[in-house]
Amino acid sequence: MNKDLLMPNHIGIIMDGNGRWAQKRGMIRTMGHKTAVGTLKKLCIHMADRGVKYASLYAFSTENFKRDIKEVEFLMNLFIESFKKEFDFIKEKKVRVLFSGRRKPLPKKVLEAMDQLVEDTKNYTDLTLNICLNYGSHAEIVDMTKKVCEMYHNGEISLENITEDFIQKNMYQDLPPLDFVIRTSGELRLSNFMMYQASYAEFYFPKVYFPDFTPEEFDKAIEVFQKRNRRFGGIENEVKSS
Ligand code: IPE
Ligand code: IPE
Ligand code: MG
Repeated sequence: MNKDLLMPNHIGIIMDGNGRWAQKRGMIRTMGHKTAVGTLKKLCIHMADRGVKYASLYAFSTENFKRDIKEVEFLMNLFIESFKKEFDFIKEKKVRVLFSGRRKPLPKKVLEAMDQLVEDTKNYTDLTLNICLNYGSHAEIVDMTKKVCEMYHNGEISLENITEDFIQKNMYQDLPPLDFVIRTSGELRLSNFMMYQASYAEFYFPKVYFPDFTPEEFDKAIEVFQKRNRRFGGIENEVKSS
């Protein structure tokens, strides 16, 4: 990784493969989720050290409620525990935490832990972590549409106000577009992750399962990003690095 080259401003990480990571080791799936918390913590510290400004982390999709109730409950408890205990690095690294997703039907205790984390970190500006929990791109677009329709209905906006910028501002969070989306575990799909925001993102699909996505794996990913030639529909640029 070349530190002098451009870092992606906003990185999306689809943290996939926890279950398979555990099963490969003869453990139950939930052990993979537990291990992933430690991996994520190291990764966040590393991203802060590398100067990443925004990271969106896919923690739980709207579709993940289809899973076995035991796994869902395990994950909900893991969220509560982790938000309370594992985010001690946040103060030192000046990390702001935001959440994207639907509050319903998340349990009250999860919501309380989320709200506390947001409140405790609201003045930090170094790295913004947008945790996508009970998040789905389709749900986000539906929710944004309802919000905008209500504004229109109340006479707060007219049709001329509806621009691309306005749509972005009315998503769950108003963040810059994604530059780079990493999905671990070798699956080649978005699974309802930030479709609108990823319109010009570069994609990277490492084979490793998320619990094995170390800071070194992250640096390898950045190296790949730095060799990409982004055109945004324009003409070819000079390749940024050799
Ligand atoms: C990702 O790992 C974590 C969540 C979706 C919550 P998985 O649980 O999807 O693990 P695999 O993909 O089944 O191995
Ligand atoms: C996507 O992974 C959601 C998260 C990583 C939180 P899934 O494991 O749910 O996605 P599919 O089912 O393989 O598409
Ligand atoms: Mg999966």
